[in-house]
Amino acid sequence: MNLKKQQLKTLLSKDYNPLSNYSNFVSYIYHEFDNISWVGFYFTNEKHLYLGPFQGPTACTIINYDEGVCGASFSRNEAIIVKNVHNFEGHIACDANSMSELVIPVVKNNQIIGVLDLDSYQEGRFNEKDLQVFSELLDILIDTI
Ligand code: SME
Repeated sequence: MNLKKQQLKTLLSKDYNPLSNYSNFVSYIYHEFDNISWVGFYFTNEKHLYLGPFQGPTACTIINYDEGVCGASFSRNEAIIVKNVHNFEGHIACDANSMSELVIPVVKNNQIIGVLDLDSYQEGRFNEKDLQVFSELLDILIDTI
């Protein structure tokens, strides 16, 4: 197992409240990876997505299922890599400087409960390899909640 996965495993635990695990997860990603301007969770309450623990500038509190990259990822239940957010119709610019984005569904017991959203000021920051890396880290978190 690589170092980042090992470190994350020591940080998170089933013994902790899920909110604590989510919070340390986003802090870990924000500080351990380069060129990430924002990382956080949006959860579903069966009506829309609402903002969860995050690191970075303040962000949209509510996202409808048919809005933005987060809404699209949630509705399709699939990860979305956006190389240039200006080319994604309906992208929500919480931060005008954001250039690229990666959104990964959060699935627990075969049920989608929200999405993990990562943003960058760098165009094309996220690729398939990043999707794999962040998905594996997300799996470690999901095991604890
Ligand atoms: N850009 C996202 C909205 C969330 S913020 O980036 C934190 C979207 O289009 O869904």
